[in-house]
Amino acid sequence: MPADRAFARQLCGGAHVVLLRWRLDVRTRYQRGLFGWLSAAILIATGAFAACRPSPARAQSSPGQDDRAQLRDRYRRPDVLVSALHIAPGAVIADVGAGAGYLTHRLAAAAGPNGRVVATDVDAASLQQIGASRPGEAPIVTRTVAPADPGLEPGRYDLILLSEVDHLLADRAAYLRALARALKPGIGRVAVSNRRVHRAALLAAAERAGLTPKAEYEGLPAHFLIEVAP
Ligand SMILES: C[S@@+](CC[C@H](N)C(=O)[O-])C[C@H]1O[C@@H](n2cnc3c(N)ncnc32)[C@H](O)[C@@H]1O
Repeated sequence: MPADRAFARQLCGGAHVVLLRWRLDVRTRYQRGLFGWLSAAILIATGAFAACRPSPARAQSSPGQDDRAQLRDRYRRPDVLVSALHIAPGAVIADVGAGAGYLTHRLAAAAGPNGRVVATDVDAASLQQIGASRPGEAPIVTRTVAPADPGLEPGRYDLILLSEVDHLLADRAAYLRALARALKPGIGRVAVSNRRVHRAALLAAAERAGLTPKAEYEGLPAHFLIEVAP
């Protein structure tokens, strides 16, 4: 059995054991809290492990990579996330901190051939894995940027997405202020999605940046999705 598949099976087996023990053995409040945190930690570790891996094309992936991709998709639900963004055909979108493009092609498909997606990252090697847009998708441009400068043209974007990125920024508020300058005036919005543990810090930074929460979607398994705008 390939090591990746064995790892995924071990992970699932471990999670089932933890859940069974949680249901059968937990008697005290202390134990319930401990096993609850343990289950949450396993879920987060599974998603984080999968999310930090490159995202090769499915057609060329091995069975082990397929297993990891399925685990990641179950944890992240990218289809639900992109649908919740209500992207109009022709939208101009920035995928900030796009990494290897986990969401980039999905965004490009939602924007369609008349749209445009700019995928940025500090890591040029990750961006190289995104590849060209496919038939029916918006053109995709990749752009290597400096850590404190989004590198986006002013007044140009309908939607700027930061997915699992804001916790990596040295100064979230300053970065959000810079992103706001790249939005189409009166129309554009910044959407931030990340693990729920980062939600409070994001909201505080948005307030410092003078941005107002406009919408929040709560249908993702482990992530918040908040839209802010000037
Ligand atoms: C956890 S990955 C998220 C990738 C993708 N957005 C996703 O949702 O799976 C975080 C990415 O943010 C990038 N990153 C970190 N700091 C950044 C910054 N200041 N500007 C742009 N990208 C950054 C990292 O290089 C990495 O590719």
